Amino acid sequence: MLKLIGRVADGSTETSARLILLKDLERSLTAEELVLIKNGGEQNTTNEILGVLREGLGKNEFLSISSYKPDVAYMKYGGEPSSAREIYSFSIRPIGAVSGDSGVEPNRSIIQPRSPVYLLEDADNPMEWLAKGKDCVWTDAYLDGHESWKIPVDKTYIPYHIAIYGSTGSGKSWFTRFILVPLLRKAGYRVLILDWSGTDYVPYYGGKITTISDIALDEESVMSYLKDKAKNFSKNMNLENAFDEAIIGWESTVSKIRDEEKLYYELMNRVKEYIEGNVERKDHQNSALRELSRVKRKLKPSDLKQIMGTKDIEEMIGKLEDLMVIDMSGVTSEAKLGIFLSLARYLYDVMERGTEVNLALIIDEAPQYAPWEPKGIQSDTTEMIKNIAALGRKRKLCLVLIAQGIKGEIGINASVRRNLNTQFFGRIHPLDAGGEGGASEWLSPYGITADTLLQLKPGKFYFAGAMNPSPIPLLITYKPG
Ligand SMILES: Nc1ncnc2c1ncn2[C@@H]1O[C@H](COP(=O)(O)OP(=O)(O)OP(=O)(O)O)[C@@H](O)[C@H]1O
Ligand SMILES: [Mg+2]
Repeated sequence: MLKLIGRVADGSTETSARLILLKDLERSLTAEELVLIKNGGEQNTTNEILGVLREGLGKNEFLSISSYKPDVAYMKYGGEPSSAREIYSFSIRPIGAVSGDSGVEPNRSIIQPRSPVYLLEDADNPMEWLAKGKDCVWTDAYLDGHESWKIPVDKTYIPYHIAIYGSTGSGKSWFTRFILVPLLRKAGYRVLILDWSGTDYVPYYGGKITTISDIALDEESVMSYLKDKAKNFSKNMNLENAFDEAIIGWESTVSKIRDEEKLYYELMNRVKEYIEGNVERKDHQNSALRELSRVKRKLKPSDLKQIMGTKDIEEMIGKLEDLMVIDMSGVTSEAKLGIFLSLARYLYDVMERGTEVNLALIIDEAPQYAPWEPKGIQSDTTEMIKNIAALGRKRKLCLVLIAQGIKGEIGINASVRRNLNTQFFGRIHPLDAGGEGGASEWLSPYGITADTLLQLKPGKFYFAGAMNPSPIPLLITYKPG
């Protein structure tokens, strides 16, 4: 089924080669196709190397723009220049040497100039070669242009965490719903999706929705939330201690007092009593009380409404069998992050005790939780994500972080990003095109240019990193089912 398309050009190494195309193939052959190099020739083949085509180039030296040639002169007056000396080429990025038993291994032989190059066709299915010898799960995504070449992922690296990057409308949430969630389920993970705005997932998973305001916060998260709302209690330690004391037993207080005005009254009363009873120096006591009255102007009863849930996280995760979506709409960012903190802390504790959690936590709008420069409660959530990521590798927790950007203001905090070992890059934002940590820095070593990334259509992603059995990123896509 192999079709000869050209030969290897001068200057190849074991990891790079250029393909000179046979006549007229430039019309039909496109970048991202997979090819097989019979290294050394059709007979006496040293090894067979699987590679992907990138960076096409058309050359016609008669039409050089930097020097004046007769053909250029002819063309200026409307003539058609000769194509006799035209050369079309692609770079071949070697994925590896194909060996019968062990699948695809890194290539160590020099790729010999003149070696014939063949186009792989649908029936060849190189994805099966890639999966050989690895513990793979098959996705419903396929190599762009070859619907029958489903993409395998290496199951071992699922708990090494996943990032999905792409500008708005590039298809991240859809990719998650149609490809990633079914994949994670197939690999034996329970799936918990955090839907920040309640619009991306909630409408599609009826019967599996939990509302955020029903969920109970742990005391530390209540404290982070109040601290954030009350602007750090103006750095008054006595006041902070008083609040810390006053929220002890929060869950049971909240389940008894269901009215936020009454709860507010109760909380402020406890704080005041604590200050009066425990701060001995009169001047310190007075300044704490003064700050308390200022806090009352910032923190309102309606703010408490957001942290009055009673649904126990431990019970909720315990009962989770296949999939759950948390609808996070209707409360402020601080309250959303407060619940997230409680959830993450619970997972951390369980994992630290040595339990495998078998859980994939899907965090869409990830920069809300772990931004470039975390502020207030975001510092806690960023730190927490980093911690559960590190521990999760051994305890079967898979974090999926979804963001419109990679780095900088639109991206994910660098300390968290470093823990995401598999990446899907969709169409990128121009801010991510260049510079340190941007998509092109990740992908240009593989011949994928920023221009290509800026123009990707919705639903197309470069699949890179640990879960990809191919060491070279591949362009994949999917059909919304
Ligand atoms: N595989 C696909 N084929 C065709 N169209 C697609 C595909 N995937 C996504 N789309 C289109 O792209 C649109 C946006 O998808 P989606 O909501 O997943 O984007 P997003 O990257 O999550 O955007 P945002 O960052 O704004 O949340 C969809 O409404 C759909 O029309
Ligand atoms: Mg989205």
